[in-house]
Formats: sequence, C-alpha cells, structure tokens
Amino acid sequence: MPLAKVKIKISDFNFYYGQVKVIKGVSVEMLAKNVTSIIGPSGCGKSTLLRCFNRMNDLIPGARAEGRAEIEGVDILGPQVDVVELRKRVGMVFQKPNPFPKSIFDNVAYGLRVNDITDRLIIEKRVEQSLRSAALWDEVKDRLKDNALNLSGGQQQRLCVARALAVEPEILLMDEPASALDPIATARIEELIVELKKHYTIVIVTHNMQQAARISDHTAFLMQGELVEYGKTSDIFTKPRKKLTEDYITGRFG
Ligand SMILES: Nc1ncnc2c1ncn2[C@@H]1O[C@H](COP(=O)(O)OP(=O)(O)O)[C@@H](O)[C@H]1O
Ligand SMILES: [Mg+2]
Repeated sequence: MPLAKVKIKISDFNFYYGQVKVIKGVSVEMLAKNVTSIIGPSGCGKSTLLRCFNRMNDLIPGARAEGRAEIEGVDILGPQVDVVELRKRVGMVFQKPNPFPKSIFDNVAYGLRVNDITDRLIIEKRVEQSLRSAALWDEVKDRLKDNALNLSGGQQQRLCVARALAVEPEILLMDEPASALDPIATARIEELIVELKKHYTIVIVTHNMQQAARISDHTAFLMQGELVEYGKTSDIFTKPRKKLTEDYITGRFG
C-alpha cells in the first residue's frame, strides 16, 4: 500500500480567545481522502480547532493562533495567506442547516457567483453536479426554483453540503452536521460523508461517539484543549492507549 498523503498538519498549535488559551500544544496529521473525527466533551475546543483549518476564527476579535498549521505542507496561518482562496479550498458545513432564503438553485450557485463565474451553462452544470454529489438531486431536480427553506431539515443540510461542494473544495469541515437531524436524516448524512471521502478530505466534529466509530477512519480525542489521543478509529474505540480515552468512550464522563 502506498503511504497515505498528509493533507492537514498542525504542530505545537495553540489558540487563544483574548488571554484564554483554549487549544494547547496540539500536533496532528490528518490524511487526504480520509474522514477524521474530532470528539470530546462540550467546550473542549472541537469547533475552535476545526475553524482554524479555514481561518474562520479570524473573524473573532482577540482570537489568535500560535504554532504551525499547514495544508499540503504550505502554511495557512501567515499574513500572506489569501483567506478567501483558503476558504474555497476548505469548505464548511455547520451544525444547524443554514440555507439562504433563496431558491434551491441559487443556494448552490451562490459561491460560484461570488467567485465571478457568470456563464449560465457552467453554473447549471456545477449546480447539478453538486446536488448529485450531495445525494439531493433526485429529490429536488423538479423544483430547483422552490425556496430552500421549504425543504426538510435533512434536505437543507444536504443542500448546505452541495453549496459547499459547488466551489470545488478539497477539504470539507463539518461541525456536528447531523446533531439537529432525526435518525433517518442522520443516517443519510453519514452515508453521504462516507461517499464523499472518495473525493474529499473530511474533518467532522461530533459528540456522538457511535457516529465517529461508524464513519471515521481516524479519531482525535480532545479534552480541555489538549489532544489526549489520536489514531485509527478502530484502535481508539477498541484498544485506547490512554485511561482517559477509555473512560470517555465508555461513558464514564462527558
Ligand atoms: N468566540 C469566543 N470567544 C471566547 N471564548 C470562546 C469563543 N468560542 C468558544 N469559546 C470558548 O472556547 C472553549 C472551546 O469552545 P468550543 O471550541 O466551542 O468547544 P466545543 O466545540 O468542543 O464545544 C470554550 O471554553 C468556549 O467557551
Ligand atoms: Mg462545538
């Protein structure tokens, strides 16, 4: 087997909100075309860490990163980084589905138009591709002009995935993407994630350990901003090296 390619690498990484250090000395390598999940108790820094990968935290006053973060060996923290370009490469899907109050079509086309793609045929093609990749096309192809807010919660979340895919990212960050969904919609999102990893590198935050066990190749267990353990998901859940990991996955706290 060829060595898997490292897509995201952070080393001795710290993150602060003002004076408060919430990510503490984390080093981790995440592999291309893998699903990596970040698990850990509420408030341990999962979302903060995830948002570092596309510099979404930049928008928060007083927020500051320290250390190294790279995508394919290239620094993503420095002032020379084109953050708009970075966010095109590193898409994001949030906990609560957040479609715009626009048509299904316009939601998916949004990022293309923002990026100055105006050719109608190109837009139509990319919208269809993205909806197909997000496993939503068959359900919406006859109603692309309908308001996206009329879709079910699960469909809205798959629409948000399609919107993220439309600008052809390499990495997809997902912050508890199924936590607002019912079990059937959750199962569809999980199937979709496993399908998407053929083409994309996926990092998912979840506090649902069964979900992490079902869909991810690697798992990072974070506690109070520290990376307690990182490894193959099967190892983390069946033979963790640390007592703390074992206590957490067996539900002794958190
Ligand atoms: N915008 C912010 N400003 C200040 N502190 C924040 C902000 N966002 C999160 N925090 C704090 O940082 C810590 C980590 O939060 P977060 O990354 O949201 O954790 P998780 O996603 O694991 O629940 C928490 O103590 C939280 O209160
Ligand atoms: Mg969170």
